[in-house]
Amino acid sequence: MHLSRLSLFACSFLFSSVANCADSDASRPVKQIAIIGAGAAGSSAAYHLHKYASEDDVPVNITIFEKTAHIGGRTLTVNVHDIPNNPVELGASIFVEVNHILFNATKEFALPTTDPGTDEAGVLGVWDGQSFVYTQDSESWGWWNIAKLLWQYGTAPYYTRKLVHETIGTFLKLYEAPYFPFRSLSTRAYQLGLVKITGVTGLQWLAQNKLDGPFSHHIVQTSTRVNYASNLPYIHGLGTMVAMAPEGAMAVAGGNWRIFAQMVYRSRAHVSLNSTVASITKKPSNDPESGSPKYSIKTKRTGAPDDVEAEAYPVSFDDVVIATPYQFSGIDHDADVIPHPVDSIPYVTLHVTLFATSYQFSPAFFNLEPAAKVPTSVLTTLGQDEEAKPGHDGAGNAGFFSATLVKVVTNPKTHNKEYVYKIFSPDKVTPEFLSRLLGVQVPETFTRDPSAGADGEEGEAVLDPISWYYPAVFNPYPQKYPRVTFQDPILGDGLYYTSGIESFISTMETSALMGMNVARLIVDDYLGISHVDDVGVDEEALREQDRLQNVLAGQQQKTAEGYGRPVEDAGEL
Ligand SMILES: Cc1cc2nc3c(=O)[nH]c(=O)nc-3n(C[C@H](O)[C@H](O)[C@H](O)COP(=O)(O)OP(=O)(O)OC[C@H]3O[C@@H](n4cnc5c(N)ncnc54)[C@H](O)[C@@H]3O)c2cc1C
Ligand SMILES: *[C@@H]1O[C@H](CO)[C@@H](O)[C@H](O)[C@H]1NC(C)=O
Ligand SMILES: *[C@@H]1O[C@H](CO)[C@@H](O)[C@H](O)[C@H]1NC(C)=O
Ligand SMILES: *[C@@H]1O[C@H](CO)[C@@H](O)[C@H](O)[C@H]1NC(C)=O
Repeated sequence: MHLSRLSLFACSFLFSSVANCADSDASRPVKQIAIIGAGAAGSSAAYHLHKYASEDDVPVNITIFEKTAHIGGRTLTVNVHDIPNNPVELGASIFVEVNHILFNATKEFALPTTDPGTDEAGVLGVWDGQSFVYTQDSESWGWWNIAKLLWQYGTAPYYTRKLVHETIGTFLKLYEAPYFPFRSLSTRAYQLGLVKITGVTGLQWLAQNKLDGPFSHHIVQTSTRVNYASNLPYIHGLGTMVAMAPEGAMAVAGGNWRIFAQMVYRSRAHVSLNSTVASITKKPSNDPESGSPKYSIKTKRTGAPDDVEAEAYPVSFDDVVIATPYQFSGIDHDADVIPHPVDSIPYVTLHVTLFATSYQFSPAFFNLEPAAKVPTSVLTTLGQDEEAKPGHDGAGNAGFFSATLVKVVTNPKTHNKEYVYKIFSPDKVTPEFLSRLLGVQVPETFTRDPSAGADGEEGEAVLDPISWYYPAVFNPYPQKYPRVTFQDPILGDGLYYTSGIESFISTMETSALMGMNVARLIVDDYLGISHVDDVGVDEEALREQDRLQNVLAGQQQKTAEGYGRPVEDAGEL
């Protein structure tokens, strides 16, 4: 630790009010902070940096670099029928009240929330590729209502819910002292006993709690599939608990990204959109007093041809926050910038297909009688004797993870009522699949590029049952195999990372939590507070944790192969 920081520390330590330290304030240089990525994590980091720095009178200047033209990252909307202000969520669609950062933000920024999935009453069904194993008639077809009644499963839903609540309660300790802020998520996960839950599969965790009956197969697994595209033997216990915690689901009217746009706006950061960070380099400090390194960043205009060189950004940064999964970021760094390489972790590849149609799901597709009432929203699980597989093959006989109604709209041309559906699947949705699902011929032109202009042969009148569609492919979240260590938020002196939390829990809220954590660590570092030993670190236990992680990683080597590659055509990300 450097002298100037120590003296600052003494000052803020001895006097609880920063005002008493006014003398040292005057000489404080403005701290330059770069944030790479304006998703939930980067936006929250910016917002909380501004907040904490203002509270503690630390002058900061924040610059955000964002590759795309929008703020929100994986939280984004698209407009149905391409009509402005007719948005549906393409990425992260819901959050819940215990998501304190997001929920508080909606209040503080006066953003109206909606109860999604209530446009009209409908039936929610769980399909196993052969038949419906569960249906629920309700006022809302939102999949998050799945755990609502369920008398047919005896006491299992009750005890599962209790287990979920206990787990979430433990997790929430991460928001408060002495667990907040944290330099190491592995350490905190151990101290809170959460590695016992992340270190086993959902199936094992439920079995340990005697909850591995039909309820977990039909309902809990349905939730892990729609939330994390995973079957119970291939997702850890904590991911399973989070997938079962959608009570009181809500969304921001107009799009959840509005939370993050507000956070960025209120952070007073300089925002550089369409700006891809290509490299980070370190240069020795020319300030002998602090001795801390400075970082230089090179950026390139997104979409610029390969032969265009990245340009050095004119500001040198005291701190850099990498707020995006490093393995997909395309950022180069010198060997001395990140002493220990950031772990590459396996990510799911998920196709998300939105489309509008006046048709509803066909009874024949689901082996139902022609006149049968077909669920409005369909979730899936495995057949009773079907082997659970990881990754791409995880969808099993059903072939997809979910096909749910997201909105009821009026077609602007025909004025007909139309349904907007969302399909989560491991493969691209084909016209052939949609023809069967809707029970009507969906022409091949379904997959044409909508911007390509005129379609079909002259004079050939094709009644297109799909009036609008939007296919996308994501690396939405990691394949959450059991693990007991997580990438630390501190990569080097003044270099921070948020995405390590994704293999622990991947939600907008947890990314925002990591952004808030990193903000606190940065401001406290300026104040000379190190948090090195807040709760008392058990070195022996940490070594054991590392050993166990190696064992788990070894076991998963086989299944993990083929995952964790960037998606080539992920232009929408
Ligand atoms: C289909 C789908 C459904 C989901 N459903 C939910 C849900 O219902 N609820 C929920 O809470 N979560 C959900 N999630 C997960 C949630 O979206 C993520 O966990 C969360 O948004 C991650 O936020 P982040 O800021 O960490 O990363 P991101 O949102 O990915 O943000 C990273 C940002 O960094 C930018 N970037 C990357 N590389 C560079 C570079 N080199 N230079 C500059 N910028 C760069 C990216 O463009 C991006 O904007 C879902 C995700 C998907 C895809
Ligand atoms: C803050 O950073 C921006 C660049 O992102 C720069 O233009 C501006 O001069 C900086 N302001 C201060 C006070 O350092
Ligand atoms: C970003 O790029 C998009 C598409 O190329 C363009 O429409 C938009 O105006 C750009 N925005 C900024 C701020 O440069
Ligand atoms: C949310 O708001 C409550 C009430 O104002 C406050 O006590 C709490 O600290 C806030 N939590 C977060 C994470 O912002």
